[in-house]
Amino acid sequence: MKILLFGKGGQVGWELQRSLAPLGELVALDFDSTHLCGNFTDLEGLAATVAKVRPDVLVNAAAHTAVDKAESEPELAGTLNAQAPGVLAEAAHKIGALMVHYSTDYVFDGSGRRRWKESDAPAPLNVYGRTKLEGERLIADHCPEHLIFRTSWVYAARGGNFARTMLRLAGEREQLTVIDDQIGAPTGAELLADVTAHAIRAVRRNRELAGLYHLTAGGETSWHGYARFVIEHAARCGVALKAGADAVKPVPTSAFPTPAERPRNSRLDTSRLEAAFDLRLPPWQQGVARMLTEIL
Ligand SMILES: NC(=O)c1ccc[n+]([C@@H]2O[C@H](COP(=O)([O-])OP(=O)(O)OC[C@H]3O[C@@H](n4cnc5c(N)ncnc54)[C@H](OP(=O)(O)O)[C@@H]3O)[C@@H](O)[C@H]2O)c1
Repeated sequence: MKILLFGKGGQVGWELQRSLAPLGELVALDFDSTHLCGNFTDLEGLAATVAKVRPDVLVNAAAHTAVDKAESEPELAGTLNAQAPGVLAEAAHKIGALMVHYSTDYVFDGSGRRRWKESDAPAPLNVYGRTKLEGERLIADHCPEHLIFRTSWVYAARGGNFARTMLRLAGEREQLTVIDDQIGAPTGAELLADVTAHAIRAVRRNRELAGLYHLTAGGETSWHGYARFVIEHAARCGVALKAGADAVKPVPTSAFPTPAERPRNSRLDTSRLEAAFDLRLPPWQQGVARMLTEIL
């Protein structure tokens, strides 16, 4: 099997380089790759890359993920999150390749308290969500053989992340305020990459498994609950902090105004994916504890 991966340097892309390697020959690109075009602002270059590599599977982990910045650069966000994935989908379909892509809980408006299903109507609140939804639709239109995974609150041990920020702040301050009215599931890039590799193998054996799936770690929390978990875990590991878990105070989203509005309810129902691929998604605490052990 030949796999072409775009966005190899991102959180998910980095883990995909590990999880996809045993599946076959892997060609991994970033926006500044020189031998082949991996730049999502060069649509012709992307199509030429697919035609030249002729992969069996195309995996797209590149995206415009700066949610607030997207509000002031909607054209660039649209190119990276919608037009480029659309071009890749067309090119993949032309050569009979499976296209794998990631989308987001931000396609929903965050109303209510129940878990969103794949069949629920999307209604994004911001530019990032709108462009990601357009990307999903272009892929579905141009390449019926696709896997689109909607996920949420992605973290990785590599690079900056929410946990690192909380640990730094708890080392500097005696009290922290963290939002408690946005609910979701922190999801590790490792988990996304491992499930992706498993799902690719399954779809290659049974093409009827292609489609749209919600994929997050199990359980749910708020950013406030997430921060408390991180600080409690660090304290148990002997890290000296000025603020303990009880010094993390809950505040509403309105306490931290941002250019992009965020959904309050980011709960995703993953039962379709678990049934289709015979998987059980581990609770979010498991992956976060593992990541903390790596970074502490
Ligand atoms: N992060 C989250 O919380 C989250 C939540 C839900 C869904 N998702 C989705 O999950 C997927 C993976 O996200 P992630 O967290 O791994 O994102 P990430 O770490 O921000 O990675 C995105 C990648 O895209 C690359 N990129 C940026 N501009 C590019 C361009 N012009 N051409 C080619 N590549 C370009 C980035 O390169 P540079 O780093 O060099 O700019 C980076 O390697 C995305 O589809 C995202 O929408 C993420």
